[in-house]
Amino acid sequence: MIHIEPMTAAWVPQVAALEPLCFSTPWSEAGVAAELDNPVSQWYVAVEDGQVCGYVGGHLVIDEGEVMNLATAPTHRRRGIAEQLLRHLCHKMKQAGAAFLLLEVRESNTPARTLYEKCGFTTVGRRPHYYSQPDETGLVLRKELI
Ligand SMILES: CC(C)(COP(=O)(O)OP(=O)(O)OC[C@H]1O[C@@H](n2cnc3c(N)ncnc32)[C@H](O)[C@@H]1OP(=O)(O)O)[C@@H](O)C(=O)NCCC(=O)NCCS
Repeated sequence: MIHIEPMTAAWVPQVAALEPLCFSTPWSEAGVAAELDNPVSQWYVAVEDGQVCGYVGGHLVIDEGEVMNLATAPTHRRRGIAEQLLRHLCHKMKQAGAAFLLLEVRESNTPARTLYEKCGFTTVGRRPHYYSQPDETGLVLRKELI
C-alpha cells in the first residue's frame, strides 16, 4: 500500500539515490536536504514498504507555485504514483494560497508531458536551450488553481 507524506530528513538519502536514476542532471543529497530548511519549499514522498518510490517538490512564493521535481522510481512506473503525487502537491499548494502552478518540462519527455496534460496543465511558453545534457528546449506549462 502506497501512502504520501511530507519529506523529512529520514527520507532524503532515498530521494537523493533516485535522482540519478531519473534525471541526467541530478540534485545532490545536500541540495535535496537544503529544501527542508527552505521556507517556500514543499516536498512529498510516496512510500511503499518503507521505501521511497516517488517524490515531488515545489516552491510557493505568494500566489505562484512552481513544480521543481517529480519522479517515480523506474521499477514503480505506470502505477499512478506520479499522478497521485502531483495531485497532492496541487491540493497542498492551493490550500497554502497558490493561484496557479508553473513548471518546465523537456520537449521530448512524452511520459511527463502526457501526465501534466492529464492533470490540467497547458503549454504557455517555450525556452530554447533551457536544458543541458542533452541540450533541449524546455516547455513552460501552467495550471490554474482557482
Ligand atoms: C514522468 C514520470 C514521473 C511518470 O511517473 P509514473 O508514476 O510512471 O506516472 P503515472 O503512473 O502516475 O502516470 C500517470 C499518467 O501519466 C501518463 N504517462 C505516464 N507515463 C507515461 C508513458 N511512459 N507514456 C505515456 N504516458 C505516460 C499517462 O497519462 C498516465 O496515465 P494512465 O496510466 O492512466 O495512462 C516518470 O516517468 C519519471 O519519473 N520520469 C523521469 C523523471 C521525469 O521526467 N520527471 C518529470 C520532470 S518534468
